[in-house]
Amino acid sequence: MSARSEDTIALLGGVPVFSTLAPEELAQVAEMAVPRRFEAGEVVFKEGDEGTTCYIMRSGKARAVREHPDGRSITLAHFSYGDIFGEMAMLDGERRSATVEITEGTETIAILGADMHRLLRAHPDISLKLIAALGQRLRDTNERLARQSFQTVQSRVAAVLAQLVAAARAETGEDDDGDVLITITQAELAQLAGSSRESASRFLAVLERAGIISQGRGRLTVHDAKALGRYVF
Ligand code: CMP
Repeated sequence: MSARSEDTIALLGGVPVFSTLAPEELAQVAEMAVPRRFEAGEVVFKEGDEGTTCYIMRSGKARAVREHPDGRSITLAHFSYGDIFGEMAMLDGERRSATVEITEGTETIAILGADMHRLLRAHPDISLKLIAALGQRLRDTNERLARQSFQTVQSRVAAVLAQLVAAARAETGEDDDGDVLITITQAELAQLAGSSRESASRFLAVLERAGIISQGRGRLTVHDAKALGRYVF
């Protein structure tokens, strides 16, 4: 067995959907898997495209987006190591429900829809895991829908900032109360919070006047993450 396929088997074993498979079954899946690499900025497929291939992330970062004809767009989900995407069209044979674009150089393994169908029929365990993963996505989407329906713009922007601080601290392993630098534009932050850029910008100015953050071009520094909590309700 080549080092490459051993590597693929190890990756597949770490993906929740395939976690119940025995090593020889993982080897069978690895045989159908086609490695595919994408650079930052590349689009894997666009909303409305035909296609039933699904992709499992080996490295890098990607996101699913929907665009409005007036140019606005929303990010539906972020994908990183071990995540699967493109499974919806693979399962229902409809067109792609969103565009998937690469935000950081990404290696994936692609599995053709027909191969995946065979796999799901032979291994009910995988089907159950996939259903659970879809359920988790529905929960996350419900969470966002509720937040966007019930929370004010300020509350949403503060909640997104608090999440970004938590993610940055998790990445660096620091959990003290020091400054946290976040690389993000006002437009990206507004998109994550589901608000207009103008509303997000007005609220960021309020936070800056209160000394909670300071802003630079395409980045901001959070000085007092705990204070953000006062704006989330
Ligand atoms: P598919 O419809 O084939 O192509 C777009 C993909 O984006 C979709 O499969 C899912 O993998 C992913 N996707 C679409 N909507 C969501 C969502 N709300 N949450 C997580 N992932 C999504």
